[in-house]
Amino acid sequence: MSLGQAPAPNDVAGFYDGIGQVLNTVWGPNLHYGYWENDADDTSIEEATHRLTDLMISGLAPRAGGRVLDIGCGIGNPALRLVGARDVNVVGITVSHVQVAQAEERAAQAGLSDRATFQFADAMDMPFPDASFDGAWALESMLHMPDRGKVLAEAARVIRPGGRLAIADIIERGPVSPEGRVVLDHICETYKVRSLGTMDEYRETLSANGFVDVEIRDISDNVSRTGAILADVVETVRDKLVAQAGEEQVTSLIDFMRRAAATPENGYLFLTAVRA
Ligand SMILES: C[S@@+](CC[C@H](N)C(=O)[O-])C[C@H]1O[C@@H](n2cnc3c(N)ncnc32)[C@H](O)[C@@H]1O
Repeated sequence: MSLGQAPAPNDVAGFYDGIGQVLNTVWGPNLHYGYWENDADDTSIEEATHRLTDLMISGLAPRAGGRVLDIGCGIGNPALRLVGARDVNVVGITVSHVQVAQAEERAAQAGLSDRATFQFADAMDMPFPDASFDGAWALESMLHMPDRGKVLAEAARVIRPGGRLAIADIIERGPVSPEGRVVLDHICETYKVRSLGTMDEYRETLSANGFVDVEIRDISDNVSRTGAILADVVETVRDKLVAQAGEEQVTSLIDFMRRAAATPENGYLFLTAVRA
């Protein structure tokens, strides 16, 4: 698979620099799903998104003084939460120059610029020496990667032996019904995704790239509430989005966010692994 095939990192950046910037104004700084313990859990969306970051922090379990790579760092909030919680330094990468600037500004505001740095880089071709990180995570960024195997090969190269990897992401959960396929295809088209991974694909690709002790959890039920909440939130900035993307696209976006939340094939995994 070559990087020339869609969606190229540029297409992804276009999404985050366009519609994504409008969504940021209402969604808050965590550009990922929320996590709830069960149906009775009435935690706010903001707290629920922090919770997913905290699940990643405990899964990564970085050692004190370690250097962690944040693959697909967004505007830096998860990285800043990590350095606030643990004695580590974080390097975040994203394919959006706008996000790099926003993440750097947030780090400066938090007085954490010396421990959290951000740069423009493609996860499929990382500008880092071998074994230069103690661990890495990808929090809802793997779905955008046209070649997940290449990202995991790069992660295996830059993480030192014994270092940990954590991933949380949207996946395809089979068997997929025709109605489910329509929703999954729409997710791919909207969010600049070539295809959603499956649990089996992650397990095989991790093992093929030198990761061991792979532990995968299906947390679809814990995060599925996010889509409906996101749809409600998006309604509040409908006019701004319509100005950017047009009425038809925005109506379809909101409609599919609600449908996605109720589609069992729209799954979500959380995994940890160790670089052999
Ligand atoms: C859904 S956002 C998640 C951001 C952040 N992890 C968070 O939870 O707030 C996906 C992120 O992946 C990044 N991304 C997508 N493709 C990438 C690539 N090829 N290399 C590096 N980052 C990429 C995007 O730029 C964006 O920052």
